[in-house]
Amino acid sequence: MDFKDQLKSSVDLVNVVGEYVRLKKSGPQRYMGLCPFHNEKTPSFTVHAARQFYKCFGCGEGGDVFNFVQKIEGISFYEALKLLAERHGVPMPKRTLVADEDSKLREAVFRMHELALASFRGSLGGPPGEEARAYLARRGVADATIVRFELGYSERFGRTFSRLFEQHGFTPAQMEQSGLVRRRDDGSFYDYFRNRLMFPIHGETGKVIGFGGRALAADDNPKYLNSPETPIYVKSHVLYNLHRAKEAIRKEERAILVEGYMDAIGVSAAGFGPVVASCGTALTEQQVRMLKRHSEKIVVNFDPDAAGAAAAERSVGLLLQEGMSVRVMTLDGGLDPDEYCKERGADAYRERLDGAKGYFYWLADRARAKHDVRTTEGVIAVLKSLLPAVERISDRLERMAIANAVAEYIGVDRGMVLDSFRKAVVERKESRLERPKETMRADEKGLLNVLLSDAAGREDLIPALEEVEILDRIATARVYRAIMAAHASGASTAFDAISARLEPADQNLLAELALSEDADTHENTLEYGRQCLESLLRSDERDRRTQLKTRVKDAERTGNLAEALRLARELQEFERAGGARK
Ligand code: UTP
Ligand code: MN
Repeated sequence: MDFKDQLKSSVDLVNVVGEYVRLKKSGPQRYMGLCPFHNEKTPSFTVHAARQFYKCFGCGEGGDVFNFVQKIEGISFYEALKLLAERHGVPMPKRTLVADEDSKLREAVFRMHELALASFRGSLGGPPGEEARAYLARRGVADATIVRFELGYSERFGRTFSRLFEQHGFTPAQMEQSGLVRRRDDGSFYDYFRNRLMFPIHGETGKVIGFGGRALAADDNPKYLNSPETPIYVKSHVLYNLHRAKEAIRKEERAILVEGYMDAIGVSAAGFGPVVASCGTALTEQQVRMLKRHSEKIVVNFDPDAAGAAAAERSVGLLLQEGMSVRVMTLDGGLDPDEYCKERGADAYRERLDGAKGYFYWLADRARAKHDVRTTEGVIAVLKSLLPAVERISDRLERMAIANAVAEYIGVDRGMVLDSFRKAVVERKESRLERPKETMRADEKGLLNVLLSDAAGREDLIPALEEVEILDRIATARVYRAIMAAHASGASTAFDAISARLEPADQNLLAELALSEDADTHENTLEYGRQCLESLLRSDERDRRTQLKTRVKDAERTGNLAEALRLARELQEFERAGGARK
């Protein structure tokens, strides 16, 4: 067994997928959830525990644990292998695999970030960090919070990392790509972050992939300096604090979205786990999808100023489009989330959080403050301001429900709201894979599942299948043949090995039948396989007999007596030989 197979047998796909997607058990071996690879409202993403295979019946994505990790992390096969090995404490043999250039570079940049994190934290704790520590104390950040969020300090003089990285043998090319140092014209390097309070930014799996650095002095610009994009850091794909927050997000079934690093830290330190921040960019589709994998409910808690409200409005549009259920939380007194928690306390924040209004009420409130809803013009203006958001709700029933609620809320006729909403909406349909046309029979499915999962079943039933001639007449013939061919050559008959032998259309067929619900309802034993084969043969016989009879009749009716006679003889022969059994 090579390392890949060894690793595969020691990790569980259900657990790995479960890190990224909320899965619900839907059969003895089956789990389902919302597909992380396309936008959907009803789960069609299936993971099969025994087969260690996933398949989305909405978009067609499917594969094994390596396919999944590669796809969801956007990394190479080698990196997926490494990531899984690290996470499961399986040592990687040194020479089994040679990384490609990209993977090697990313690995080096990851290591440089680990070194940088340790260095920043050391500096904050030591003499150089005195000023930064005083700053944190002034802002009421407790020591435990500093430790938990791994805060650090980047020193003033700017030669820390060129030395450190050289000592560790990194090449100038690797250093340049790290985003942690910059190259001067003369080829020498200096630190990118200098004299700043450092916030490490982690990827979803908890590795440090970048930093945000806050100025300590009011006149130091910019206020926040963020890592540039590097081979391991793509801003639009990262949510600050998600790796810590995701468990709480699932448990509480809601995420709190704030604007700033300090907000995320302050809210979290006040006892609210499920908080994340976008890292100084407008919210992106990728970020929304990352959240949605953990919960469809979100509370947006942006700064109370006009810029914050505008950002909230923009973000919410996107959240709705991706099918999230959105509430908006407003804080009084002009305080941002961090300040609010510190000045008013956790209980006050919780009250606001639990009382957060549905997005449409918040929008309506904002519009109502601008327009007079006692006049028709006012009502129309309010409705108009709601339309862009309504258009983004892809579900018709949900739109109707919202129209009703909005009508009641602003005190106008339901019909008027519905009418104005209806005009604005173009129906959108969720795309679904075209299902295979042939409906697969239970016995056909059952026999296949036995062949896939039971060695004794294969030994006994494959020779029996070779004896009869029904394969040409069933929908899944190519899948059967792939199993038989693998068996004959002594190759693996595991689910994914068989899948690899098939064309995409047949791969879908295989997944559909092996991952389907009724595949779990029988024990895949030799005995059951025999029953299925018997049943297949019996019905095949029936079909052929009926067919022959019809053709005899047809020939008689059209006066083709020679043909009728020939077919009648064939029928007789068929009956005597016992149908398909040779
Ligand atoms: P804020 O200015 O609200 O920062 O910007 P903050 O996190 O609340 O920090 P304090 O409380 O003022 O210290 C919100 C977020 O916008 C990004 C950062 O991610 C920041 O956390 N930002 C802000 C930048 O990227 N660059 C900037 O110059 C300013
Ligand atoms: Mn702030």
